[in-house]
Amino acid sequence: MGNNWLLSRRRIFKLGLGALTGIGAVVAAKNIYWSQQIQALDNPNRTFIASGKVSLKERAAAKGLIYGTAVRYPDLSLDVKLAASVALECGMLVPEWELKWFAGKQPLRPSPDSFDFQMGDWMVNYAKTHDLLFRGHTLVWHESLPPWFRNTVNRQNAREFLAQHIKTVMQHYAGKIHSWDVVNEAINLGDNRSDGLRTTPWLKLLGTDYIDLAFRLAAESDPQTLLVYNDFGLDYDTPQDEAKRIAVLKLLEKLKSKGTPIHALGIQAHLLPGKNKFNQEKLRRFLRDVASLGLKIMITEMDVADKDLPVDIKIRDRIIAGVYEDYLSAALDEKAVIAVITWGLSDRNSWLSEFQPRDDHAPVRPLPLDAQMQRKLVWNAIARAFDHAPKR
Ligand code: G3I
Repeated sequence: MGNNWLLSRRRIFKLGLGALTGIGAVVAAKNIYWSQQIQALDNPNRTFIASGKVSLKERAAAKGLIYGTAVRYPDLSLDVKLAASVALECGMLVPEWELKWFAGKQPLRPSPDSFDFQMGDWMVNYAKTHDLLFRGHTLVWHESLPPWFRNTVNRQNAREFLAQHIKTVMQHYAGKIHSWDVVNEAINLGDNRSDGLRTTPWLKLLGTDYIDLAFRLAAESDPQTLLVYNDFGLDYDTPQDEAKRIAVLKLLEKLKSKGTPIHALGIQAHLLPGKNKFNQEKLRRFLRDVASLGLKIMITEMDVADKDLPVDIKIRDRIIAGVYEDYLSAALDEKAVIAVITWGLSDRNSWLSEFQPRDDHAPVRPLPLDAQMQRKLVWNAIARAFDHAPKR
């Protein structure tokens, strides 16, 4: 083989090396950029000083608000330290698993013709015993459907299954539930429908009216509870969240114009600092628009994921606390907001440990109490937000 061949091989090698070096430089620059972005989130001067040691429940109640948390039966029934902290800090509980169709070790709907209320009953009775309000989550969702659902529910019987589920579950707990997430996460712009609806099994089986139907069935089943539409991705100053806020608002306007018995919007507020810009005024405007429809608003699943934040706990806790306070100080200015629920009380029990873990495998720290049930800067941030909120 001639020298030319060798030259071209050497040239290809050099070109490849150059390309790799270039890519490496771009990646390094990007990492430096994101590290600077993240560091910019931290403000060492923010101290989050809260006055006194009064619980979140009491601070919320002083302003006519409710503070609560999501809990799971296995944790609440076995973890006495968690149970004590829940009783101290919370005015409301919502089951993270037990009132979904099929979640956790002993699901509500084990088969097409049965309901297992044992877990839900334990949770509702626990709340009553400890003088806690209770909210139901969730009656109509595209996730946590039972394994038997796909092969059992069809266009001919879907309405009957929907009606039977809503009526049976709501009448079982009638009069004991502050609010129900009747329909959860029905908007998904990624499904490219002009109405923004998610192509859920319920939409495919019943058409777009499944949402109105679910709320009407719910209103018949328990007239004493607040009926809530619950969704996520409504928080940030990003094109995606702005588009979703518009789509949710259009859905709410349409439901109200049809006379659908809907009482509140649930904003999940699963927050992720770092890449998402937050604009208090845009959130305030959205809440104002929702309230102008005569709807109440609940912050239903708040947590702040720290997977993109530095491992340093002091910096991470300060950034997370800042996100909570900036978000809640804007949200609680809207008097239609009646409750703040965090998706867990202690870092010991966050879904994020399993679903959004940190790359460095450090334990996540998204919630008001640490894994030892000690109050963190997040607790201070929520306490301050309640203290500064206008009275309802
Ligand atoms: O550990 C049990 C296993 O023993 C059992 O056999 C199996 C049968 O379903 O369930 C296993 O538990 C699962 C648990 O994750 C632990 O992996 C639950 O089913 C499963 O439901 C649970 O995922 C939950 C997820 O919703 C889906 O239901 C998360 O804990 C929960 O935090 C998450 O919460 C959702 C809200 O409901 C709606 N908004 C978003 C939010 C976060 O995704």
